[in-house]
Amino acid sequence: MSISQRTVRGLSLAMMAAGLMTATLAQAGEVEVLHWWTSGGEAKAAAELKATMQAKGHTWKDFAVAGGGGDSAMTVLKSRVVSGNAPAAAQIKGPSIQEWAKEGVLANMDDVAKANKWDDLLPKAIADGLKYQGHYVAAPVNVHRVNWLWVNPEAFKKAGAKVPTTWDEFFVAAEALKKANIVPIAHGGQNWQDFTTFEAVALGVGGTEFYKKALVQLDAGSLKSATMDKVLTTFRKVKGYTDKNAPGRDWNLATAMVIKGEAGMQIMGDWAKGEFLAAGKVPGKDFTCVAAPGTSKAYTYNVDSFALFKLKDPANQKAQQDLAAAIMSPEFQEVFNLNKGSIPVRLNMDLKKFDDCAKTSAADFVSTSKSGSLVPSIAHGMAVPSAAEGAIKDVVSQFWNDDKITSAQAQDRLVAAAKTK
Ligand code: BGC
Repeated sequence: MSISQRTVRGLSLAMMAAGLMTATLAQAGEVEVLHWWTSGGEAKAAAELKATMQAKGHTWKDFAVAGGGGDSAMTVLKSRVVSGNAPAAAQIKGPSIQEWAKEGVLANMDDVAKANKWDDLLPKAIADGLKYQGHYVAAPVNVHRVNWLWVNPEAFKKAGAKVPTTWDEFFVAAEALKKANIVPIAHGGQNWQDFTTFEAVALGVGGTEFYKKALVQLDAGSLKSATMDKVLTTFRKVKGYTDKNAPGRDWNLATAMVIKGEAGMQIMGDWAKGEFLAAGKVPGKDFTCVAAPGTSKAYTYNVDSFALFKLKDPANQKAQQDLAAAIMSPEFQEVFNLNKGSIPVRLNMDLKKFDDCAKTSAADFVSTSKSGSLVPSIAHGMAVPSAAEGAIKDVVSQFWNDDKITSAQAQDRLVAAAKTK
C-alpha cells in the first residue's frame, strides 16, 4: 500500500469513526422517568434501570415521588401532564393505562414490541392490559405477588408460635406473639396498606370467586353479603394486633420491624422481600414467605409497567423507545427483579439466580392462571377504574380507623362507593 493510499485509508477510517460518534451523539437523548421507588430495595432496583439507560448513552433524569403504592406520584403526574410538561415515562399500571391512553397523551410502542416479540413473550392477559385499541402503550417490568405473609422465624420461636395457614391459626399465632411482647403484625396505616390487608382477608375468608365478584366486578350482592360481613369482622380483628404507632407509618418501616424482630409478621407484596434482601437478610433463614392465610391456592398479582408520554424531540423519542426495549430484555428483567423482590414478567426466563420465594411465586403464577385463581390486586390498581378504587379504599380505611362504623354500614358504603365514576 502506497503512502497516499494509506493516508486516504487512514482518513476515511477517521471520518467513519467521527461519523459513528456523531450518529451516537445525535441519538443520545434524555429520559425523565417518574416512579415511586424510594425505599432501600426499590431504589436498588430503580438504579438498575438508570444504569441500563446510561449504558445506552442516554441521560437519566430521576423523577422519584416518595410514597408507597404511588398515590402521591399519580397526583404529581396529573399536574405535570395538565400543565403540558409530561415526563418521558411514568410508572402507570392496570386500568389507569387505558385511562391515560384515552386522553391521547401516550406514545405508541408497537415497533419495539413487534421487533422484540412481546406478544410471544408475555402472558396474553397481561399483554392485553398493556394495549389500548390493540396498540402497546405500556412496557411491563415484573410480576409482584401481593398476597404474602412475611414472617420473622426467630420471633415465632421466642413466642412458641406456629406459622399460620388459615385466619384462625393467624389469630392463635398473633395472641402468642403478643404474650411474648412482640408486635404480632407490622402495619402502616395508609389507605393502600389497609387495603392490601383487606384484600388478603377477603381472598382468604371469602375465596377466589367471592373476591372476583365483590372486588373485581363490584357486584352489589357480594359487597353486601354474609361473606363480606365475615371479611370485615376478621379484618377489624387483625387491627387489634397492630401497634399504636401504626397510623401513617410507611410500609418499609413496617417491614423493618419484622427484619429487627420487633414484629412477627407483615402482610405485604413481595417488594417487602426487596427490603429484607437490601438489609442483607437470607430468605428461608432470617425471614420466610408464606401465602397470606387461606390464600395458598390463589395469587393476587400486581404488574409494574411504564407508559411513555408523547414528546417532540427526536433524540428523546429514541431514548424513550430504548427504555421500552430495555425493560423487556432478559438481562434487565433478571437484574431488576432480583433486587425488586418480584419475578420477571417475560415468560420462559431462567430463574436459577432467584430465591425460593420467587420460585414459588413463579410456579404459583402459572398454576393459578390455569386454575382460574389468578386475581388482580385492587390495592395496587390492577382491577377497577381509579375513581371507584379510590372510593372503596376510603370506605375500608374509614372502617379500619373508626370502630363505631358497623360492618353493615361499611357494606352499604362499599356498594355506594363502587358506583363512583
Ligand atoms: C408497586 C411496587 C412498589 C409498592 C410500594 C406498589 O404499588 O407496584 O412496585 O414497590 O407499591 O411502593
